Amino acid sequence: MNILGINSVYHESAAALVVDGALVAASEEERFNRIKHGKQSDVDNPHQFPEHAIRFCLDYAGLRGCDIDHVAYSFDPQLRRMQFRAEWWPDPRWEEVFLLRLGEVRGVAERILRRPLRQRSHFVPHHLAHAASAYFPSGFDRAAILTIDGIGEVACSTLATAVGTRIQMLETFNYPHSLGFVWEGISVHLGFSPYDASKVMGLAAYGNPEVFRRQLQSAIRVDEEDYAVDPEAAGFLTAKSRGLETLLGPPRFPDAQILPRHADIAAALQAATNAAVMALVRRLKRKVPLDSLCLAGGVALNCVTNELVRKSGGFSNVFIPSAPHDAGTALGAALVVHFAKRKSPPQRGNSTPFLGPAFNRREILAAVRSAGLTPRRSKAPARDAAEMIAAGKIVAWFQGRMEFGPRALGNRSLLADPRRPDMRSILNRRIKHREDFRPFAPSVVAERADEWFEVGGHSTSHEFMLFTCQVKTERRDRIPAVVHQDGSARLHLVRRESNPGFHDLISCFFARTGVPVVINTSFNDSEPIVCTPADAIVTFRKAGIDALFMDDVYLTAET
Ligand SMILES: [Fe+2]
Repeated sequence: MNILGINSVYHESAAALVVDGALVAASEEERFNRIKHGKQSDVDNPHQFPEHAIRFCLDYAGLRGCDIDHVAYSFDPQLRRMQFRAEWWPDPRWEEVFLLRLGEVRGVAERILRRPLRQRSHFVPHHLAHAASAYFPSGFDRAAILTIDGIGEVACSTLATAVGTRIQMLETFNYPHSLGFVWEGISVHLGFSPYDASKVMGLAAYGNPEVFRRQLQSAIRVDEEDYAVDPEAAGFLTAKSRGLETLLGPPRFPDAQILPRHADIAAALQAATNAAVMALVRRLKRKVPLDSLCLAGGVALNCVTNELVRKSGGFSNVFIPSAPHDAGTALGAALVVHFAKRKSPPQRGNSTPFLGPAFNRREILAAVRSAGLTPRRSKAPARDAAEMIAAGKIVAWFQGRMEFGPRALGNRSLLADPRRPDMRSILNRRIKHREDFRPFAPSVVAERADEWFEVGGHSTSHEFMLFTCQVKTERRDRIPAVVHQDGSARLHLVRRESNPGFHDLISCFFARTGVPVVINTSFNDSEPIVCTPADAIVTFRKAGIDALFMDDVYLTAET
């Protein structure tokens, strides 16, 4: 039974393919259409499907549209109709437009797949899709599940539990209690885009959370097991006041200097978010007294909060999938429909992020030659790349299947030497064109991680770069380029079984330097992460990267 999962309701458009309960392929549309997040979130476009990602999934599995038995869309218009109030919009007609476009979803799927679907098209509640995307890959037999995002149909946070293959929703916190929207609003207030939560998170380490604590508390009120968002204070669309300006002072213009008060606002937001999420975790633990917790939703990309949840010890095992944001709902929706139709459990415990396209040697060489470049061949690419990194070069590392989720995890990565204090500003300014305060993540071989970082118990989600931790004090001077302002790092554990090629590279770097760590940032400039060899070559040339390795083929800046 072939099930195609689709997310396109808001942003992070994505497709996933589940065959007989097994996850076969998944990818975000942005990697193909080269538009960040696939598309902008708009009431007028939930019917704009991730057509390239769908094509990839079908091609990868050797299927045609008529082979798809069911389509699962990760949003339920019926639930939305019942629970959402049109007056929450500045103009109630927006809701009508949204629902009309959602009414086109089945027809669009039929056109793309070239087959009638009738009862084979399914709408899966958004937070159920998020929950499934975390629970089934987690491998847990039973777990508590917490989903926190901007909004689903109407829910902004959902508490759930799962036993065996059955997920049960327990409680929702509905609009306006959206932590995701507060982050979007404050990102914009600080002069970034609504999608720049990770910049705000990075900036927070430079600020004092006390300065704006009271203001943030009026936007996000937190009790022992409860939180509430005040839409007026938080400046939501429908707010009649000037919202955030009243609360936090004048906004920062995008190119204006970043002042200490901006960092203070970010720090207070991070503190308020930590408090709200911890309140939900305590509430969930009381309702579901199990050992294991799954986190999903865009807010689960906040690796500072995630680490707090993990360290709090409320749940001894915490799992977050590689794509906890909306892209992951494509996968979750497909798994939910598999269970509904088959009554047999979908595959569990497969959490690999490497679900995207891969390219063979012939395709790589064709791309190099059509770019007019001369390919070189390496007999030991891991060793050669490690040598270059140790010599101060910035190396693009392209291998195997592309990652599903927003982080490059060693298959579409830019790598550099963490020992050089200036490497952070070189990368930020020369290659990535981003603000200097933003930290870079370290990739470390799992077997040596505890010698360098205060990791605590290793979680699978450490392999997805979803927790921060402290760098060991005595090691900080050795790897200054990956130590953030507060002594933390957003750690990426690399296990040989999960990614042998990348593990080999870091091991070679360790053998050469005594440091089992490399800087790992996504292989892009400001566009979406590269997908194809042609994308890789363009970004390599455009960004002034020193070398590009694609399997055993490599190019250097002098090529
Ligand atoms: Fe979501």
